[in-house]
Amino acid sequence: MNQSLDYGPLAELIGTWRGDKGMDIAPEPDGTEENPYYETITFTPVGDVTNAESQTLVALHYLQVVQRKSNDQVFHHQTGYWMWDAASNTVMQSLTIPRGVCVLAGGSWNGERDEEGRVKIEVIARLGDEDWGVVQSPFMRDNARTGEFTHHLRVGNGRLSYSETTWVDIYDRLFEHKDANELVRVD
Ligand code: HEM
Repeated sequence: MNQSLDYGPLAELIGTWRGDKGMDIAPEPDGTEENPYYETITFTPVGDVTNAESQTLVALHYLQVVQRKSNDQVFHHQTGYWMWDAASNTVMQSLTIPRGVCVLAGGSWNGERDEEGRVKIEVIARLGDEDWGVVQSPFMRDNARTGEFTHHLRVGNGRLSYSETTWVDIYDRLFEHKDANELVRVD
């Protein structure tokens, strides 16, 4: 693998980030739970890969460790890859969480930036979608089904902000599970 590569819109992510402005909105049987949180996310370049001798991706591995402000416990742990296909302007995020849920979300990036010049990335996945989908355990499918995942991210100038929405069919209703935070690069 070649390590000195052009990571396109992912280049700004490389490094270690911390943020303590997180807010999680999660489902409870009788309503909603709001959890203020802090977290560390590390993005590590892993080089390039070639698929079917014709598609070349560059990839970052990431690890996201999220702790509740109220008791410092890790209450969300997530890992996966961000991938960039320069030939088709496609961004992909694969993620797995230790609930028995995996997602492969995708989107396109054509140079989009916010008013501060930060790179803007949006990826989406839907259960049953042929392109960008969700895989989950039988228990989760039957009791806490993830139907859709969207992730909006802005990165640049040493700052990273994101907001994620996961639609979960749980406790006989569709719940809009939301997470958002603002982080700064610490390494
Ligand atoms: C910062 C990110 C996230 C945090 C802090 C977080 C936190 C939580 C919390 C506190 C719950 C409630 C657990 C309980 O019932 O006690 C929950 C439920 C759930 N989360 Fe997340 N979550 C995050 C991201 C995600 C993502 C990215 C997915 C999937 C794409 C996801 C899927 C689920 C599902 C399916 C449930 C329902 C399980 C249940 O409540 O019993 N979460 N999450």
